[in-house]
Amino acid sequence: MTRLELFRVLLVGFMGSGKTSVGRDLAGRLGWRFVDFDEAIEVEEGRSVASIFAAEGEPYFREVEERVANDLLSERCAVLASGGGWAIAPGRLAAVPKGTATFWLRVSAEKALERGSHELDRRPLLEQRDALDGTRQLLIERVPHYQKAHWTVDTEHSAVEDVSAQIFKILTGKYTRAAGE
Ligand code: S3P
Repeated sequence: MTRLELFRVLLVGFMGSGKTSVGRDLAGRLGWRFVDFDEAIEVEEGRSVASIFAAEGEPYFREVEERVANDLLSERCAVLASGGGWAIAPGRLAAVPKGTATFWLRVSAEKALERGSHELDRRPLLEQRDALDGTRQLLIERVPHYQKAHWTVDTEHSAVEDVSAQIFKILTGKYTRAAGE
């Protein structure tokens, strides 16, 4: 079996799927850096995701997100957690740089609401869609995009450490990891 060289891991999936918590744990296992797209956007903009949405609107947020993500996708030895909407633009996951392993962390709308409503300053879309129907609809629209990730891992009933261990196992079985710097 040919082993692919791995430079970075990218986690995608709906709000509340555990991208940030799993990403942090996984980075620890790999001895790599962890970077969260939303956190990087907030540092660059000097304000919260919710403030950016409120003051400038979603299209502006998506422009900043695209720029920040493009920079981060050239990082080596990094685990990256995207925001839930990043993977939705056409062709996004197909265009990730070589050496990037992508994982969709799958979660139901019910669980996403339960987990995601704790951090609303990062998730204005969830606040607008607190009704389960709206969240379900948004998730249905997004699934075909998330499905383009190389791997899918269910997070519905699993602890962060278990999801992370599962990803780690896939990575060590299939890839040769670039050495940390
Ligand atoms: C969004 C998800 C959020 C954040 C922003 C938009 C989305 O990130 O980027 O609120 O469109 O799903 P998380 O998925 O990390 O909550």
